[in-house]
Amino acid sequence: MTAKALVLGGRTGLLGQALARTLAAHDWTVAALGREDGDLHNVDFLKEHLDRTAPDVVFNTVGWTQVDAAEDEKDAALRWNRALPDSLARMVKGTSCHLMHYSTDFVFSGAGERPYTETDTPKPLSVYGASKLAGEQAVLRLAPENSCVVRTAWLFGPGRKNFVSTILEACHRRDTISVVHDQVGSPTYTLDLAYWSLLLAEKRATGIVHAVNSGQASWCDLACESVSLAGAPCRVDPIPSSEWPQRAPRPTFSPLDTAHLTALTGQTPRPWPQALRDYLFKEYLPAHSARH
Ligand SMILES: NC(=O)c1ccc[n+]([C@@H]2O[C@H](COP(=O)([O-])OP(=O)(O)OC[C@H]3O[C@@H](n4cnc5c(N)ncnc54)[C@H](OP(=O)(O)O)[C@@H]3O)[C@@H](O)[C@H]2O)c1
Repeated sequence: MTAKALVLGGRTGLLGQALARTLAAHDWTVAALGREDGDLHNVDFLKEHLDRTAPDVVFNTVGWTQVDAAEDEKDAALRWNRALPDSLARMVKGTSCHLMHYSTDFVFSGAGERPYTETDTPKPLSVYGASKLAGEQAVLRLAPENSCVVRTAWLFGPGRKNFVSTILEACHRRDTISVVHDQVGSPTYTLDLAYWSLLLAEKRATGIVHAVNSGQASWCDLACESVSLAGAPCRVDPIPSSEWPQRAPRPTFSPLDTAHLTALTGQTPRPWPQALRDYLFKEYLPAHSARH
């Protein structure tokens, strides 16, 4: 019998689309649910949907993902990032359904000097980070036996605007772009993350798991590699964060350690530049070459 997945954000989300595609390619039956279907904060609506689709695994990629806007929209950020996973955890608790919930490197302060492990203490700097941490805590408190919090970072991939696509679009309009060089993280390909998620779901992994591509980069490194692979005639100038003020503070150093992911799945994540190459040559450039 094939496994059944319900992917929240599976139709429009950056990660949700990658999950829906990867699960379907591995013979899962996939249903998608998003805010376009109804009010996800209405517990009766959500429960009815879960009862009707009877998934083996719920993948929750829906959340308030606008980091800067969250600073002024705290209640909305908490509704999407804490209350929604809280409701989902209450619904799966004590059932055979597993919940895979996604969180972020922004739960950390970025003050460390080595990649963060799952046992490091979070200390979010922003409303977004704090709301995501509250969501993690709700899930793990309410349904510890059948839920998994997957922390990821700096996503790029097909189907929705992301940092890499934004940089390449900017290169078509300008000769030079300026990109921050003093924030370092773990760039991650959504299709790789979707595959690790599938393996974790098959194993019914519980607790927190960090899942990112290997290596580390600054936003400027990621932009340079994207521009260079795409062959765009654009110059990338490194600038400090102080010259690119943003509403929400970001961690300066937030790479994630993936030893636990490897121990659970047997997979060592490939380096981000290799994953970026796949995204650009197999997904982004074929889809955009006709437009430019
Ligand atoms: N993107 C990253 O770099 C990154 C990094 C670390 C962790 N994460 C986490 O990974 C998960 C998936 O991220 P993603 O980049 O795939 O997210 P996304 O594409 O921005 O959005 C995923 C889903 O959330 C909904 N959503 C986004 N912003 C919303 C808002 N302000 N109000 C209501 N609904 C909203 C979207 O609905 P619509 O399509 O209708 O807008 C979509 O269904 C999230 O939990 C995120 O916190 C992402």
